[in-house]
Amino acid sequence: MSLRERLEALSGLSGYEKPPPHSGLRMDSNENMALPERFQRDVMEAARRRVDARQYPAGATEKVARAISSYLRVPAQMITVGNGSDQILDMLLGHLAERGDAVLATDPAFSFFVDRCALHGMEMVRVPYGPDMRVSIDDILEASARADMVYLDSPNNPTGHQIRRADLRRLAESFEGVIILDEAYAEFGGYSAYRMPKRYPNVVVVRTLSKSFGMAGLRVGYMVADRAISDVFGRVLQYPYPVSSVSAEAAVLALERAGEASATWDVVREERRRIITALRGYGAFRVFDSDANFVLFDAGRACRRIHKALAEQGIAVRLLGRVGESAGCLRVSVGTKSMNSRFLLAVRDLLK
Ligand SMILES: Cc1ncc(COP(=O)(O)O)c(C=O)c1O
Repeated sequence: MSLRERLEALSGLSGYEKPPPHSGLRMDSNENMALPERFQRDVMEAARRRVDARQYPAGATEKVARAISSYLRVPAQMITVGNGSDQILDMLLGHLAERGDAVLATDPAFSFFVDRCALHGMEMVRVPYGPDMRVSIDDILEASARADMVYLDSPNNPTGHQIRRADLRRLAESFEGVIILDEAYAEFGGYSAYRMPKRYPNVVVVRTLSKSFGMAGLRVGYMVADRAISDVFGRVLQYPYPVSSVSAEAAVLALERAGEASATWDVVREERRRIITALRGYGAFRVFDSDANFVLFDAGRACRRIHKALAEQGIAVRLLGRVGESAGCLRVSVGTKSMNSRFLLAVRDLLK
């Protein structure tokens, strides 16, 4: 294939649609704004003092892996660090599957992953969420017979639904290919499956500090996997220095303060409940339960109007439009109490 043909083929694909930069209330990217600014400032300043940027970050990812090992109480040999979980997902897809393999993903699923499947030339087996924004494990089990790899984001982006632990076990018992569990939002959910790779070596759990530790800007993700997968990933596949020295030091310092971060996860859960209850109370939307730090709601035909009117007030939420049978979906990230109150009041005023 000539370069021109290759570029034409690539330009026909879609890439991840990044939210535009803006200075108002950011409630469109599922960041953890409930984490006090002071936390990240302290961590960044201390990290900067530890770092000599003239040097390559030798040993940095190993240090982060040891800090994650203490945080999760999982052996460090099962942990590999990457440039955000995006990069890990992309590498798993590119190296643990082959062009033309069938990858099972729910519909909807994290759009970046679905886009990357197209880029890597994978066939897709999609399992749709139902009208209640839940997915049936029986449907997943049945479809997995046609798949070489399974990807599940749980809690799912954008529905917020977390697959039950017992259902994941059923899948792991029956499916022999690689199962990627994307747990970007697990700290806000009911449980985490990060211990599964010990018992099921084909399960890889991908996690991130972007949401739980409010470090989206520093790009630190990791995976928990069987030692054989971790070894190959760390020694052969991963770049020599996937995260910067500042990011690595900041990650270690943040993980040492996991208690403070976890207090914000409780706040997010409480605030999530408040947003769901209030939006339901307005009587104009279908509002779905969530196990993540965001809430999906169907505003029907009003969704574009609401999205635009909120944007005009400096409040950014994610416009999704059709998700399954719900025609007008919006996704709002749970922010600080005052951000959430501003969002709720603005929506209420728009309904008057
Ligand atoms: C389900 C899911 N996985 C992974 C990511 C990427 O996270 P990271 O910042 O670690 O690349 C996101 C980000 O929005 C996400 O929603």
